[in-house]
Amino acid sequence: METAEIRRRWLSFFESKGHTVVPSAPLIHEDPNLLFVNAGMVPFKPYFLGQETPPYPRATSVQKCVRTGDIDEVGKTSRHGTFFQMNGNFSFGDYFKQGAIEMAWELLTSSVDKGGYGLDPERLWATVYLDDDEAVDIWREVIGLPEERIVRRGMADNFWSMGVPGPCGPCSEIFYDRGPAYGAEGGPAVDEDRYMEIWNLVFMQNERGEGTGKADFPIIGDLPKKSIDTGMGLERIASVLQGVDNMYEIDEVFPVLAKAAEMTGKEYGTRSGHAAGTSHPDDVHLRVVADHVRSSLMLIGDGVTPGNEGRGYVLRRMLRRAVRAMRLLGYDDPALPHLLPVSMERMSQSYPELRENFDRISAIAYAEEVAFRRTLAQGTTILDNAVNATKSAGGSTLSGSQAFTLHDTYGFPIDLTLEMAAEQGLEVDREGFTRLMQEQRERAKADARAKKAGHANTEVWRDLRALGATDWIAYDTLTTEATVIGLVRDGAQVAELEPGQTGQVVLDRSCFYAESGGQIADEGVITADGVRMRVRDVQRPVKGLVVHTVEVIDGPVRVGEQALAEVDPQWRVEACQAHSGTHVVHAALREVLGPTALQSGSYNKPGYLRLDFAWNQALSPETRSEIEEVANLAVRDDLPVSAQWMSLPDAKAWGALALFGETYGEDVRVIEIGGPWSRELCGGTHVRRSSQVGTITLTGESSVGSGVRRVEAFVGMEALRYLARERAIVHELSGLVNASSGELTDRIGDMITRLKDAEKEIARLHREQVLAAAGSLTDAAKDVAGTTFVGHHAAGASADDVRQMVLDTRGRLGEERPVVVAVTGDADDRPVIVIATNQSARDAGTKAGTLVKVAAKVLGGGGGGKPDIAQGGGQDATAVNDALKAVEEKLAGA
Ligand code: ALA
Repeated sequence: METAEIRRRWLSFFESKGHTVVPSAPLIHEDPNLLFVNAGMVPFKPYFLGQETPPYPRATSVQKCVRTGDIDEVGKTSRHGTFFQMNGNFSFGDYFKQGAIEMAWELLTSSVDKGGYGLDPERLWATVYLDDDEAVDIWREVIGLPEERIVRRGMADNFWSMGVPGPCGPCSEIFYDRGPAYGAEGGPAVDEDRYMEIWNLVFMQNERGEGTGKADFPIIGDLPKKSIDTGMGLERIASVLQGVDNMYEIDEVFPVLAKAAEMTGKEYGTRSGHAAGTSHPDDVHLRVVADHVRSSLMLIGDGVTPGNEGRGYVLRRMLRRAVRAMRLLGYDDPALPHLLPVSMERMSQSYPELRENFDRISAIAYAEEVAFRRTLAQGTTILDNAVNATKSAGGSTLSGSQAFTLHDTYGFPIDLTLEMAAEQGLEVDREGFTRLMQEQRERAKADARAKKAGHANTEVWRDLRALGATDWIAYDTLTTEATVIGLVRDGAQVAELEPGQTGQVVLDRSCFYAESGGQIADEGVITADGVRMRVRDVQRPVKGLVVHTVEVIDGPVRVGEQALAEVDPQWRVEACQAHSGTHVVHAALREVLGPTALQSGSYNKPGYLRLDFAWNQALSPETRSEIEEVANLAVRDDLPVSAQWMSLPDAKAWGALALFGETYGEDVRVIEIGGPWSRELCGGTHVRRSSQVGTITLTGESSVGSGVRRVEAFVGMEALRYLARERAIVHELSGLVNASSGELTDRIGDMITRLKDAEKEIARLHREQVLAAAGSLTDAAKDVAGTTFVGHHAAGASADDVRQMVLDTRGRLGEERPVVVAVTGDADDRPVIVIATNQSARDAGTKAGTLVKVAAKVLGGGGGGKPDIAQGGGQDATAVNDALKAVEEKLAGA
């Protein structure tokens, strides 16, 4: 059965049982505790906790998930994969244990003809939490599962939580016996390869606190309602139903693996590994490629771009590991252009948007491969240098710090360093490397802790949120009366805030825009009787709760106070201009560059906007002007700007650009400017007609990572001020060079040409002067122990000048007697010395190379060369005369 069909059956089975089918949320979720969505229940968390009222009592979904804890294990065992899909059915205070178990059994064991998965009931086992007699009874009495196939297990196995504070509860897992070929008899407690977990039914009933591991955390209370969260790994059940060994071999993944095998001429799964029970390294690499290519596709599809931290770093690692695995398989050319389309073909059956967005997705992935190949090339040179240096110093081990620098600065993976050093017969100090890595990790952790301490504990926000959602009316008004319902200082609730203090204020109603969607928070004041607070920031730390960070000017302010909230109207006007301006620039970009120039991030505040978009090369000045012109024409055309609410599918059908991270299940807000020209999902504040945006001037365009460019602009009065500043600069320059603005370019161009010519002329005259001086150097010759010696310092001379002088002087002094000429120079404050000997000096055993070493030492540097001519340099330009003296003394001594 194809994976897409397994998915379809899942959704239609639960739909027939009264569940609302909910589309997968994007992999990036607002939950700050999670890097990526890692379970089907994540989007429903507020419903379990009772923070929000679920719009339906039952739901079902197939949720995209990424787990990255085991990224290094991918491919080594058959169980680890980074991207996977979780089939889930959920009850929010509706059915509980019996309903969940009955439905699971029905779907698993109904025949394929009847829409089920047709598994043999004799092969199914169930585990339950230690003392969960209720679940045992249901399995035995209602389902009829024999006692010996019901296993009780402890907290680590049969109590599920998200690994962080949140909903949790005992669970019951269903296992499928794959038969004796896979391991020993005896159930899941004996062998989890043979008995494969396919479905986890979680009986959500508790809330947990902070803690570690799977069992070490406190239960802090009961959930408001007993609920159900289940999860079936779609890839696992697919491997069972497709009769293959593991997730890498199912229909959605294997084609990429097969393509990689074809490209590298490897045969998958035909050889055994080095050690018993392990896979052949080639098979491991092929699986890494298959897994990481698919995960990268899905991550970029959901708006992640490669970067150096957080989500971007995970993506970068996966792309690079895939490219690297291909390289280890012997494939040196760009590989992703052959692999990514194969994955897209398979995955777009369930996620058609991957095909629509493939231009953008592939551009980002391919650019990262190009960048990594450059890194490899660069790192290889650095590595070669390190290897040569180590060898010429007689060593056989590359130091840990060299390996670490390669890794940290050049992104050169350690296994590559090991492999390439070994090729050149060197070892690497792995211990030293590991220690440095460890130190770096500790620094990062300390940083993270320091950052976290600055944020209030989310418990505080949850307690305040429990008092009710903020009545948020930022779209309708700039002033409102409100009641102070909570005050927070240093992360804890307080009864009052005093003048001079900074803290957070929660009101029952607020007209302040809270930072989101790239738009920063409103500024303004909150006043009450004898109270005045300046609003510095506004955030929504949990859904539905608006929190104002304030500086208390007059006070104290107390909980319960009647207050007046007032947004600075000037601020808001300019915030609206900047946000609408962002949409206008985005539409202009897409009009000029084409629809793939899709926004991947934005930031706007009064007077300024910045927009990141998918694009691979720098914009020419002409293109920039064109974009600016299109944007300003849209402003001039006085287009209507409207906000409309609709369902997500309606918005998409209407052509609205759904950027990333929207939550489904609720209506979305679409901002339209000038009809279909610009339709975007957006929660920001906007002007009513485009002309109110005022002027837009692009001020910069730059790269912010592979495949992503950034444009910046000033908007409204700020744009005017920017242009006025530029004009003032032009005026000033005109005055300086005495030309009208129209003549300015030519005039300055002329001046630069003349300046360059003059510099060349100066250099020529200088050289002539130097050579003329050389003529008189013979006059300074003196006898030192039978050798004619010339020692001279040529102030301001460069190494080239000095060399010419030395050769010239040696020529003039002939061959009758031994001759040594030493000249120093100090162009740019860098001392140099050149020494030459004639044939008779060399016959007498005097070598230029030896003398230069003596001099260079005095200059604080080094040097060398042949017996006839040698050059050295150093740090200390004041020591040139001492250096010449040292040469003379050396000669005298010899
Ligand atoms: N949330 C449960 C899991 O991830 C079903 O296993």
